[in-house]
Amino acid sequence: MKTSTLLSTAAFALAATTTAVPLDLSSGHSSLLISVDVVQNAGAPVAAAVTPAAAALGDIFTFTSQHTLHATPEQVVNETTPTGGIAGASGIFSFGINSALNIICYNITLHGFQGEFSSPADTATHIHEAALGASGPPRIAFPNPEPLDASGAVRNSIGCLTGPFTVGVLMMEKDTGEGFHVSQIEQNPAGFMADTHSSVALPGAVRGQFA
Ligand SMILES: *[C@@H]1O[C@H](CO)[C@@H](O)[C@H](O)[C@H]1NC(C)=O
Ligand SMILES: *[C@@H]1O[C@H](CO)[C@@H](O)[C@H](O)[C@H]1NC(C)=O
Repeated sequence: MKTSTLLSTAAFALAATTTAVPLDLSSGHSSLLISVDVVQNAGAPVAAAVTPAAAALGDIFTFTSQHTLHATPEQVVNETTPTGGIAGASGIFSFGINSALNIICYNITLHGFQGEFSSPADTATHIHEAALGASGPPRIAFPNPEPLDASGAVRNSIGCLTGPFTVGVLMMEKDTGEGFHVSQIEQNPAGFMADTHSSVALPGAVRGQFA
């Protein structure tokens, strides 16, 4: 049974005892608009959070794939010309993808970034659709990693984004994130890379390939 209902936290807590979709509503909102696939699963043990039924519906706490990219300056190109990025900089871009719900969680750590984050997109930290050694449009823009201390030597950003995506870059009058689905990364990881752009390295400071 599919329902789309304005639920109070209290009402949802009640509903949660009859659904196989676990959601964390501990964020303190007094009311939330939630579209829930409610499964009347009579007799099933509610406490089993990750049941096959929940996974089939798209359990928000389940990744369909995880990826760790080691980003380096040597991989940065402009079109197909290597530009060198920021010498000595590096990045670890970790992603968890939930292709059932079009969610991507990220943990992006940069070492030795210099200059200011700079990009025509909404942020300067992206997943682009681009094969190794080639350039391509940004599909997802992530919050730029923030300095962990005053030196700024290490920067980090952590969170999750849910489609539909917009990146703030137009091609043919269309945002290059429009219509993008994270399952496309799983279908062709070699066709995607992640990077971050600096005022002192506009084509990219560091870049890493999904595969
Ligand atoms: C994020 O990634 C960094 C670098 O790999 C790691 O040290 C850190 O523990 C990760 N943080 C979380 C919350 O997973
Ligand atoms: C990439 O190279 C082209 C052609 O040389 C140049 O016009 C453009 O400004 C470069 N892009 C960046 C981001 O540096």
